[in-house]
Amino acid sequence: MCGITGYIGYKEATPRLLAMLKKLEYRGYDSAGVATLCDGVLAVRKMKGPLSTLANALSTERMAGTLGVGHTRWATHGEPSDVNAHPHTDVSGRIAVVHNGIIENYAALKGFLQERGVAFRSDTDTEVVAHLLNYYYTRESGGGHNALLDATLKTVSKLEGSYSLGIVASDYPDRIIGARKDSPLIVGLGVGENYLASDVPALLSYTRDVCYLNERELAVLYRDRVALYNDSGERIVRQPTRVDWDVESAEKGGYAHFMLKEIHEQDKALSNTLGSRLRHSAGEAASIDFDEIRLDASWAAAKRVVIIACGTAYHAGVVGKYAFEHFARLAVEVDIASEYRYRNPLIDGGDIFIAISQSGETADTLAAMRQAKKGGGRILAITNTVGSTLSREADLVLYTRAGPEIAVASTKAFTTQLMCVYLLALRLGELRGTLSADDGKDTLRALANIPQQVRRILDKETALQKAAARRFSKRSVFFIGRLFDYATALESALKLKEISYTHSEAFAAGELKHGAIALVDKATLVVAIATQRPLFDKIISNIREVASRGAEVLVVTYEGERAFDAVANEIVAIPETRDALSPLLAIVPLQLFAYYCAVQKGNDPDKPRNLAKSVTVE
Ligand code: F6R
Repeated sequence: MCGITGYIGYKEATPRLLAMLKKLEYRGYDSAGVATLCDGVLAVRKMKGPLSTLANALSTERMAGTLGVGHTRWATHGEPSDVNAHPHTDVSGRIAVVHNGIIENYAALKGFLQERGVAFRSDTDTEVVAHLLNYYYTRESGGGHNALLDATLKTVSKLEGSYSLGIVASDYPDRIIGARKDSPLIVGLGVGENYLASDVPALLSYTRDVCYLNERELAVLYRDRVALYNDSGERIVRQPTRVDWDVESAEKGGYAHFMLKEIHEQDKALSNTLGSRLRHSAGEAASIDFDEIRLDASWAAAKRVVIIACGTAYHAGVVGKYAFEHFARLAVEVDIASEYRYRNPLIDGGDIFIAISQSGETADTLAAMRQAKKGGGRILAITNTVGSTLSREADLVLYTRAGPEIAVASTKAFTTQLMCVYLLALRLGELRGTLSADDGKDTLRALANIPQQVRRILDKETALQKAAARRFSKRSVFFIGRLFDYATALESALKLKEISYTHSEAFAAGELKHGAIALVDKATLVVAIATQRPLFDKIISNIREVASRGAEVLVVTYEGERAFDAVANEIVAIPETRDALSPLLAIVPLQLFAYYCAVQKGNDPDKPRNLAKSVTVE
């Protein structure tokens, strides 16, 4: 995830900007840069690679100045490269901007600016902000004490999506401007100096007195004071807050573990995944538009989809199987990549191969993808990592936009992979004429609701904590479900076993009686995932089967659903959605359940034994 730093004071800015960026390294990034102002001249230095590369370069080429902004970039638009790194400057080279977030309407803004003769240098969404600032500053603001603030207000009023911004301009050597919407930004208060940062850890070595910017607020940092404004340009007065976190809890945003933080980031991450891809009409989600990929008629005419992935990403693929069949009426095979590469699979040039991988570097997934490519298959990658090997070698890439995932156990990467899979299935359904206009609209509306429904589940975290406290010592936990719920069961069982080390397995509920039910006894917890309404009677019979053998049963179903009252020991309710979309919601309480079971057992959920975040070797 990108990081922003800013300094204005009486000391050299560059060492402070770099030291603050260093405190944000844990968040993951692919390039870094700083901009400083000295004697009216704006200097920018930015490089792909670790912060140490930039710091080494700057140790020989001094960047003077007592104010500036810094950035670590996690690529979302455009590959990791020197030119795509931040800060970005306007055409005059007099305004520099660092940005976290995603500008969803950047393509439209870019068109607007290009029509006015602006030449773009990078592939980023951020560059539009620098040019827009210049546009409003030179054309409309007309100079003066507040002209840069006015230009910023006008610029941010045109931005859709999420942003936190740090802005310096050579005409204003006495200030830095910050602005935020849907992406955090914090002002650190010093004596004769002030700081800007996207996260608290960057500030802790300098100050513990901070002002958190609220939605759509702006801050102007001078050396001796800070002025806050709302988006109408009116002054706001806010008392500073004293931060008493230590560095480690600050890195985790106050959460006990990265995994918990990432579980809690899912509503935001899912909004980012949807972002500009969901087009609205009359205030309602109306159509899908992938700005980065063109699915032409030949993709829509495919006879078969083959999904290849490992672990959690494979489970996203299982959801994909049901989703592509349901919405696009396409035949789907979903394969574990480590199996696929050693099979003698039938590859047809007309097939679509979808490789799903958070890291984009998983050895088995890459090998399977290369095999499919060699056989003439077309590859569409779903990945979280811009510039990864998978993204470079695939024909088309859909980014999940989850931000870096640090905990080994995948959570937000999974739900955002699901979101991409649904968007693809729906788009192919539209193109293939297998999805009626009404059904399509209803499903898109339901999809648009998912982020806030995820938030509602997260707000009920304490209930899951209690459910885990009562059951973490069970000998075995079986997750059962049918159709989409079976896919959720697979991922829930993996989550629980990898961090709590409890024996857990997933079964298609109808398979129980073909063998697995022999394992069920009083020491077993069965988690029944029940969101497929036409199959409620079937899953109720399965629950009765396990309950009569002594198992305790926890049911995950929709709020207000009474069908399971008589058979469940406890019900975990999720908001109502379309049955086909339920994995996006049903997995969330079960991630929390797994997390709290692990914590109850005294395990570190961020670093489960024997596991690595990225499996780059076989
Ligand atoms: C489980 C988990 C792993 C990964 C798998 C694939 O929580 O994270 O099962 O899903 O190793 O990794 P990627 O998605 O990077 O290919």
